Amino acid sequence: AEAIEVLSMTQNDPLCQNTNMSGDSKDVLTDFEYLRTKAYDLAHDRFGNRIYIRGLIEFTNICKNDCYYCGIRKSNSHVDRYRLTKDQILACADEGYVLGFRTFVLQGGEDGGFSDGAIADIVRCIKERHPDCAVTLSFGEHSYETYKLWRMAGADRYLLRHETANRKHYERLHPEKMSYDNRVRCLYNLKSLGYQVGSGFMVGSPYQTSVNLAEDLHFLAKLQPQMIGIGPYVPHKETPFAKMEQGTVRQTLVMISMLRLMFPKALIPSTTSLGTIAADGRERGFMHGANVVMPNLSPVSVRKKYELYDNKICTGEESAQCRGCLDRRAEAFGFQIVVDRGDYIS
Ligand code: SAM
Ligand code: FES
Repeated sequence: AEAIEVLSMTQNDPLCQNTNMSGDSKDVLTDFEYLRTKAYDLAHDRFGNRIYIRGLIEFTNICKNDCYYCGIRKSNSHVDRYRLTKDQILACADEGYVLGFRTFVLQGGEDGGFSDGAIADIVRCIKERHPDCAVTLSFGEHSYETYKLWRMAGADRYLLRHETANRKHYERLHPEKMSYDNRVRCLYNLKSLGYQVGSGFMVGSPYQTSVNLAEDLHFLAKLQPQMIGIGPYVPHKETPFAKMEQGTVRQTLVMISMLRLMFPKALIPSTTSLGTIAADGRERGFMHGANVVMPNLSPVSVRKKYELYDNKICTGEESAQCRGCLDRRAEAFGFQIVVDRGDYIS
């Protein structure tokens, strides 16, 4: 916790004087840059300059939950709610396939309008049309039986951030109806069903301390997920946390590097929220050990409606082809976006 705290402060190091602001070392590296170099080298040894992509299909913004931080929480009456049809979802996947995506992530609010069978049917259809692709679900908390049904239908992976490993902190971020224990139970159920599991947390979420972040690392060390998604907390104006401070780029990069060192094989995305608070945020994430990016494949007409936080990027008309844009940006930093499922390799 102390290391996280010190590294997250800017100009934390008295030796900083020997280092220019871009982080290029003259005589000696700052602790922050040293951490970055170690994480980058480790990722590079394992993955080279390869960055894996996942096509994100935000298929519903309807949610029964009311997380205090989330823009699509059910109490936000300003949201224009939508639900994609099965045909729309399949069309997104077809388009993504042509663009070179070999993983599709179906993400949504916890929308009871999709039956378990309907989700299974969509997964099955994507796998039939694109047998060489992985399907990842990110659709919240469900029973063991439901997760099993979706796994049998062909779902390969599941993303469910634990959000915070500290029970008291969890209770400050979520209303009473939501249960920390159930979140954790879901994660272990998913693992036992053979999903490649992704978990993670927001950096700088309201009331979070450095000790909480250390607890997150400890939790993940026990869970051993294959994927770890973290990004800065970014306020949304229509939530109870609208006035809370956002997470910082620096602390997010510190946590990405620490995760890379702890989990050399993990798939670690450089997230949209990091790209939202800094124009070059996602590229800097790669420089700190991240190796995945999740461009938006949702129909342009709904992208603005899936606003989890203010000013979310890649929601305008210009973003229909996020793939091409990211290719160029990654290349400028020496990375190459690859056509590959990007499975976890143990
Ligand atoms: N409903 C599914 C779930 O709960 O896992 C998937 C959708 S949920 C909106 C996806 C993730 O968005 C959450 O796990 C949370 O960490 C992140 N998120 C929500 N609000 C955010 C905010 N204000 N800033 C940054 N990330 C946020
Ligand atoms: Fe939908 Fe949190 S508001 S899961």
